[in-house]
Amino acid sequence: MNLAREGVAPGEGAGGGSRLWSDPVVGPLARELYRRCGLVFEGGQGHLFRKRVERRASEAGQSNVGEYVAALCARPDEREFERLIELLTVNETYFFREEEHFTLLIDTFWPEWQRRSPGTPVRIWSAACSTGCEPYTLGMLLREGRGRGQVEILGTDVNERVLGEAKEGSFGEFALRNTSQYYREKYFQRQPGGFRLDPAVRGMVRFQQLNLVRAAERIPPGQFHAIFCRNVLIYFDLAAKRRVIRALSQALRPGGVLLVGRSESLFNVPEAPPMGNAGGILYHRKPW
Ligand SMILES: C[S@@+](CC[C@H](N)C(=O)[O-])C[C@H]1O[C@@H](n2cnc3c(N)ncnc32)[C@H](O)[C@@H]1O
Repeated sequence: MNLAREGVAPGEGAGGGSRLWSDPVVGPLARELYRRCGLVFEGGQGHLFRKRVERRASEAGQSNVGEYVAALCARPDEREFERLIELLTVNETYFFREEEHFTLLIDTFWPEWQRRSPGTPVRIWSAACSTGCEPYTLGMLLREGRGRGQVEILGTDVNERVLGEAKEGSFGEFALRNTSQYYREKYFQRQPGGFRLDPAVRGMVRFQQLNLVRAAERIPPGQFHAIFCRNVLIYFDLAAKRRVIRALSQALRPGGVLLVGRSESLFNVPEAPPMGNAGGILYHRKPW
């Protein structure tokens, strides 16, 4: 994987970037990670950023963080950037998170997609899926007979480590904190330290490494009926968000739906498809 090449230019239409960027020690690295992945580390996150970079430098045998950063920026080592991204991304996720989105998709939009294009598989993309709880929740609901016909589910994330965990399908109690007894008993098997997801559900999702900032180059236009891009845009600034949303809008089919997290908003992102409101549940839908 090459995370670099063309990324987001620091300051490109952005709301000022991050204060970390002017830090003489870690600033060049913060700028480079922004360019590659669109991530900004504001406020308290700045402290966390410094601590984690220090930790990584020492793991890599460098006691001087400034020298570690300078060497990495002068001679980019892709594997090292991947390790840093694994350390610096927030991967919090759980099953049945913001469940109303799944219900809306299956009960409201699904029948319409099938009526309009009978025989075409419904294609769903969980972008920034972390350890896979989001696409697997959809898988379980579909196995319950909700949403008929053929389906293809893609889960992607920039972080290879979480994708490995997603494929493995082992989860701790915390990931099941919103999972009812019914689903626990039907789709999970207890194992030391947690639970293993039913292989039939695991088999419904294809996982692939993908950096959202570069999604436009990797995902052909008009592919998906729905895209979940939830709880990741909060880590981007406006320039990165606009770039990502432009790519996601292009990846939607006509009539396709984009769902972002409850605490995220696309009100200042003109590239977003028009917003709709279904009884208080917000979504963005590409016109037919
Ligand atoms: C907080 S988790 C959200 C997981 C899931 N969507 C949910 O709502 O439960 C955010 C995920 O976004 C991923 N991420 C961050 N920057 C990314 C980028 N540029 N491209 C793809 N994934 C990214 C992180 O690795 C992390 O797994």
